[in-house]
Amino acid sequence: MQFRYQLVDKSRQKTLPPGVPSFGALRTNHMFVVNYEKGAWDDPRIVPYEPFASMPGAVCLHYGQTIFEGAKGFRHADGELYLFRVDKNFARMNHSANIICLPEIPVELQREGLLRLADLERDWCPTEPESSLYIRPFMFGCSDTIGVKPSDSCVFCIILSPSGPYYRGGFSEPLRLLVSTQFHRAVSGGTGSSKCGGNYAASLRAAAYAESKGASQVLYLDAGNRYIEEVGTMNHYHVLKDGTFVIPEFNDSILRSITSESVLELATMGRIKARSERIEVKDFIAKLKAGEIIEAGGFGTAAVVSPVGSYLLESGEVITVGNGQIGEHSRALYKMYTDMQNGWAPAPEGWLTKVPQYQPA
Ligand code: PLP
Ligand code: COI
Repeated sequence: MQFRYQLVDKSRQKTLPPGVPSFGALRTNHMFVVNYEKGAWDDPRIVPYEPFASMPGAVCLHYGQTIFEGAKGFRHADGELYLFRVDKNFARMNHSANIICLPEIPVELQREGLLRLADLERDWCPTEPESSLYIRPFMFGCSDTIGVKPSDSCVFCIILSPSGPYYRGGFSEPLRLLVSTQFHRAVSGGTGSSKCGGNYAASLRAAAYAESKGASQVLYLDAGNRYIEEVGTMNHYHVLKDGTFVIPEFNDSILRSITSESVLELATMGRIKARSERIEVKDFIAKLKAGEIIEAGGFGTAAVVSPVGSYLLESGEVITVGNGQIGEHSRALYKMYTDMQNGWAPAPEGWLTKVPQYQPA
């Protein structure tokens, strides 16, 4: 497909400000956009980052037909920009699309759009500690129709945000999670395994409630309040005394985290000990209290490895994990993972994509 470029005038282009950027606050000069009309993807283009025009009756505005992805790019010592496991994001974008009746977008089109945009904006990749070029692909239905039905037309777009750590304290501050029995993020048969906007809209009230109780996020259980599912913005893990990472088994109400999958793959390569299984919350709490679970936390692209220092139960009881500080296993995994992302240690074959240099048309 022919890619079109409409660039911001050089004299009006912004540049990366110094310092560690707040997560998600900055934008680069351009974005990638492609439209879906009459059953085909059309007019892939790199254009200035600017407002979209939308009809007020657009499906996404009324019925939330929107999905998104999150990935990261890193500048390595050779000066080149590398993207981490983006093929997994392309595949999950189409998984999400199927779940909320948006069209799939060819992986090749996603890849070329992203690589061309990343090439153009490569100077925006921060090199400050715990920073990266955050990549946000998304798609939304834009047909102007009040009837509840899948949109005939949609937009796929990628924007970039040079970002520091997702949680304010970065890796140095363990989180407190509220174990919620009153709020649920997803149910079996629902949309939990997709990255659709509605899942996140539904998590806002619970997250605000958690914050009002002094917790940073919610640990969601299944709708029967029996099994641990995940956190609003990351999968969950705990670590047993022998150093094994245990991740709740994926199902259709848990997002299949690329970070969790990578951890499980590292285990099959013998680099760490990790497995996934169904975890009953009552066993989890008993093992925490008995000291059999020595560390816990969350996995995610934005969150990376985010250790949890304590859990707040709805009763008001607080259960500390280990001594409440970051444990050695979480610390070692964080280092192993970010070393690979940053090119300080070799990553498994195919995990990093070097951004090529394109000649803008
Ligand atoms: N679970 C939820 C609900 C998320 O929003 C995220 C973030 O993307 C994750 C888990 C972690 O997934 P990944 O590691 O692919 O970023
Ligand atoms: C990510 O980790 O990339 C996410 O999408 C989580 C959050 C910022 C919504």
